[in-house]
Amino acid sequence: MEFVLLGFTDIPQFQWFLFGIFLVIYMIILLGNGVIILITRVDAILQTPMYFFLRNFSFLEICYVSITLPRMLMDLWTQKGTISLFTCATQMCFFLILGTTECFLLAVMAYDRCVAICDPLHYPLVMCPEVRIRLVVASWISAVPVQIGQTCQIFSLPFCGSNTINHFFCDIPPLLKLACGDIFVNEMVVYIFGILFVTVPFLLILGFYIRIISTILKLPANTGWTKAFSTCSSHITVVLLFYGSATVTYLKPKSNQHEGIDKMISLFYTILTPMVNPIIYSLRNKDVRKISFLLTVN
Ligand SMILES: *[C@@H]1O[C@H](CO)[C@@H](O)[C@H](O)[C@H]1NC(C)=O
Repeated sequence: MEFVLLGFTDIPQFQWFLFGIFLVIYMIILLGNGVIILITRVDAILQTPMYFFLRNFSFLEICYVSITLPRMLMDLWTQKGTISLFTCATQMCFFLILGTTECFLLAVMAYDRCVAICDPLHYPLVMCPEVRIRLVVASWISAVPVQIGQTCQIFSLPFCGSNTINHFFCDIPPLLKLACGDIFVNEMVVYIFGILFVTVPFLLILGFYIRIISTILKLPANTGWTKAFSTCSSHITVVLLFYGSATVTYLKPKSNQHEGIDKMISLFYTILTPMVNPIIYSLRNKDVRKISFLLTVN
């Protein structure tokens, strides 16, 4: 049995245009995140916990985007989107696992900033190498069993009607639309894990940033206020984009209209955030900017 990913075939005249755009975006993501991995590894100034997390996050972004984008490019190139059941399930499983890792790792990074700003004296102790590694490993593996289970559950549903997926990759909501039989339990499971893996980390992040901002406000004026605020606000923008679009996708009541809009929203958490993250988290950062400048000059 096979599925057909419709992708963007509803706008056939733009296939090559989209191929070009997505190819460029993929290059930017690989390059931007690759540079971050490289400079946080080689540079002596950047051996702090923050850059340790940032390096792992960039590595995650490359993996995460490579689950969907190359396949999408191939479908745009070949102009047909047939995908085997097994490939579809594998893609969904990895996408869900890495997506959850992304949610957790962003929360860990916000926690790191919160400790560094609100409790600087204990920071080296709280973020000692052992703790850092534990936090990162936990982010990577804690959702693995659940997401494998969730994928198995969805692919054990009977698919009897159409086999065309009106989407550009195998995501949960478009697949649930194709299932026949009673999917109430599945929808509840998606909902519960959506809250657990998307909403909870999001609220934690908000909490960390509220603490950061209230700490900054207590400092005397002109001691880095504007800098701290601009950093916080750019982080919060990414967080809102990523968690907002994921929330809309996984927690909204099902509707059969607006599939075009659903696809657009998915683009935010699949492609747009991995693209802007390196910019927001590092190019706005003076240390990284200086070093990448030196790197390009040499
Ligand atoms: C990020 O963390 C994971 C899990 O601990 C590890 O497998 C991976 O190699 C790390 N990546 C980098 C670039 O540090």
